[in-house]
Amino acid sequence: MRILSGVQPSGKLHIGNYFGAIRQFVELQANAANECYYFVADLHAMTTIKDGAELRANTFRVAADFVALGLDPERSVLYRQSDLPEVAELAWMLSTVTPMGLLQRGHSYKDKVAKGISPNHGLFAYPVLMAADILIVRADRVPVGKDQKQHLEMTRDIAAAFNQTYGREALRIPEELILPDVAVVPGTDGQKMSKSYGNTLEIFAPENELRKKVMSIVTDSTPVAEPKPTRGNTLYALLKVFTPEAEWPQTKKLFTEGGTGYGEIKKRLLGLILDTFGQARARREALDRDPGYVEGVLRSGRDRAREVISTVMAECRQVAGVGR
Ligand code: ADP
Ligand code: TRP
Repeated sequence: MRILSGVQPSGKLHIGNYFGAIRQFVELQANAANECYYFVADLHAMTTIKDGAELRANTFRVAADFVALGLDPERSVLYRQSDLPEVAELAWMLSTVTPMGLLQRGHSYKDKVAKGISPNHGLFAYPVLMAADILIVRADRVPVGKDQKQHLEMTRDIAAAFNQTYGREALRIPEELILPDVAVVPGTDGQKMSKSYGNTLEIFAPENELRKKVMSIVTDSTPVAEPKPTRGNTLYALLKVFTPEAEWPQTKKLFTEGGTGYGEIKKRLLGLILDTFGQARARREALDRDPGYVEGVLRSGRDRAREVISTVMAECRQVAGVGR
């Protein structure tokens, strides 16, 4: 089974990203029957980041973050999207068989326009580039969050249109693999944790910054001695994400029995976060001292991916009648 997924390097990874996506990527690579391809979607991020130095730095950092979080370059192929310009070439080929109406129905495009973002062609054509990412490696399964479901459907339609146009099964139609409905991780203000809300707990933030953020989690004013509400309680929800299931009944009592203040519970949460990500944080620091290592991983990822995509590109060029 060939697995592919991509992440945009649009900000610093937070614990919502980990539980919602990255943890599953790491788990998928553990199954020897899977061949996993993961990439940093820097061409996609150009639709939002207009500062070259910032984009380059973010792209590299996300790659290092992934390695630190357990993506094993021996088992998974990790690459930078822009290192394979063939992706943009295939995107063009696909755009010639993609009906305008299909893209006009895109939720994420419509949402951005509704928010008043002035649309450019890149934003409009975003799903075509994403289709190229997927089809170029002949992925069987694409693990994504629910928000990407429509993009996967578009990919399937676009692949079918290309095959139909040229009368050949040049492109493999992928299946989605919607990640199990992990509870949405709340941010420090109680809304969904998201970099766009500025309420994140960043996995690799320095410890004192993380402590400050944890201490700033919004709580109610229940006195220390009294039981604390659990429903709609951000601290409760966050603690649950980090507590091993077997320990949960005990931990839950911190809320239901009274006698423990929110400050103390926050300290426990901070401890759990540091424990959970301790190894990753240490590895991340080591990678910072050795940027050549990450660059090497990306280079070898590019070369390994190219072995696969060159066959697909040769076939697409051949059927379309472009190139030699
Ligand atoms: P953000 O909302 O911070 O911009 P992205 O949209 O880039 O995050 O999300 C990247 C991945 O992380 C997606 O697969 C998404 O489902 C997952 N994810 C993001 N925020 C959360 C959250 N608060 N809880 C669970 N999963 C999340
Ligand atoms: N659009 C995805 C997101 O915003 C990122 C992405 C780009 C992607 N290309 C992809 C995901 C290909 C899966 C497969 O999260």
